[in-house]
Amino acid sequence: MGTIVLDAVTKIYPAADGRSAEVVAVSDVGMTIADGEIICLVGPSGCGKSTVLNMIAGFESPSSGRITVSGKDIFGAGPDRMVVFQSPALFGWMTVWENITFGPRKRGVPKAQYEDDAHRFIKAVGLEDFSAHYPYQLSGGMRQRVQIARALTNQPEILLMDEPFGALDFQTRLLMQELLLKVWSEFKPTILFITHDVDEAIFLGDRVYVMSRRPGRLKEQFEVPFAKPRSIEMLTDTRFVTLKDKILHSIREELAR
Ligand SMILES: Nc1ncnc2c1ncn2[C@@H]1O[C@H](COP(=O)(O)OP(=O)(O)O)[C@@H](O)[C@H]1O
Ligand SMILES: [Mg+2]
Repeated sequence: MGTIVLDAVTKIYPAADGRSAEVVAVSDVGMTIADGEIICLVGPSGCGKSTVLNMIAGFESPSSGRITVSGKDIFGAGPDRMVVFQSPALFGWMTVWENITFGPRKRGVPKAQYEDDAHRFIKAVGLEDFSAHYPYQLSGGMRQRVQIARALTNQPEILLMDEPFGALDFQTRLLMQELLLKVWSEFKPTILFITHDVDEAIFLGDRVYVMSRRPGRLKEQFEVPFAKPRSIEMLTDTRFVTLKDKILHSIREELAR
C-alpha cells in the first residue's frame, strides 16, 4: 500500500532573482521504500533531504523524474501522507483535542469513527490530561507530541518526518523514539525519517540512506541488522557501534569534499 518509489528525481529551484543562480537541490535520486519500512535519511546540511521529503509530501514537484506512492503519481498533498516538522505547526487557537482531530473533522469524518483513535493516540503520547489545553500552555516537547498524535490520528499510510525530534532534549527524544516504534508496530505505516543524529537513524531505521553533498544524490545505504521491537540496549551492541562508525565515515567524507 504505502510503497514510495523515486525514479531519477532531480529538483532545480529557480533563481530567487535575476542575479543569483538556480539551485540544483537534488540530482538523479532513485529510491524505493517498501510498504511498512522505516527509512532514515542522513547527510550534510543543505544536501536536499527536506527537498526529497517535500516532493513526496506533494509540497514541491520534481523538475524531472517521477515519484509514485502505491503506484500512483502524486498530485499535491494528501491525508495518506502526514508530515511532521521539527517545529510543531499547531493551531494556537485550538485545544490539543481540536488540533489532533482537525484532519478527520475537516474531511467530514463522523465523530464516532475518529474519536477512539484520537483518544488512543493522545494516551500513547502521554497527553490524556491535556486535551483541553491550548498549545501556549504546553512545553516544546509536549507540542511536538501533539503534532505526532495529530499525524497518527489520520492513520496515514505514510509518515514523513523532517528532523521531528531535533529540538527536543535528550530524555524526551529517547522517549519519543521509543514511542514512534511502538505506534509503528500498531499499524505499520511507511516512514521516511530525516535526522542529523546517526544514533537515532540506526535506532529507528530498517535502512539508513546517506546523501551526498548538494546536489544531493543517494550515496550509500546501510541495512540495520536489528529486528524490531528494539530497545536502547542496542546502542551499546558492537554491531551498532560498527555500523555507526561506517555511517559517520560516509557523512564525514561528504563534509570534507
Ligand atoms: N523553496 C526553495 N527555494 C529555493 N531554494 C531552496 C528551497 N528549498 C531548499 N532550497 C535550497 O535547496 C538546497 C537543499 O535544501 P534542503 O532540501 O532544505 O536541504 P537539507 O534539508 O538537506 O538541509 C539548499 O541549497 C537550499 O537552500
Ligand atoms: Mg532539512
